Amino acid sequence: MSRPQTPPLKVAPIDSVTDIRFDEAMEERISKILKNYPNSQAALLPTLWECQKEWSWLSPGIMRAVAERLELSPAFVEGVVTFYTMYQIKPPGKYLFQVCTTLSCQLCGAGTLVEHLKKRLGIDFGQTTSDGLFTLVDVQCLGACGEGPVIQINDDYYGHLTPESLDEILDGLEKEAKA
Ligand code: FES
Repeated sequence: MSRPQTPPLKVAPIDSVTDIRFDEAMEERISKILKNYPNSQAALLPTLWECQKEWSWLSPGIMRAVAERLELSPAFVEGVVTFYTMYQIKPPGKYLFQVCTTLSCQLCGAGTLVEHLKKRLGIDFGQTTSDGLFTLVDVQCLGACGEGPVIQINDDYYGHLTPESLDEILDGLEKEAKA
């Protein structure tokens, strides 16, 4: 698996997403979804996904705006968001590391990678580094078992990782973030 050049996430600060009104562009994106999914419950997942692409996470304000737009109850929307681990309910770092900890990756050394990552970044799963650069989460099979151990960083897959190759990737991302 070749190494992609992963761009940093544009993470909306908390105070910018407390009270959201969708702009024209987002309205257009949601209308397009609703054309494909006439039932608003069915439109919920892709709508949330569009919101997460825009703000990198789903604040309570964004969830409320989605509920209002799709005419669903806020509790229903929150229930869906908190059920799926791919939706972020806290602002992530610029690089979201989703580390596969399922069996195939474990057999290929995921455990060693996890120890290495936690030690180097000084954080545990579910945490973000104090400089706001890296967030670490553990996930189940990413569907790329033949490339194990695998980490998804933002939208890109990185496979066949070792502590050494991971260090190179981290060095590159840190350099990119400071540029
Ligand atoms: S077990 Fe890690 S990608 Fe499938």
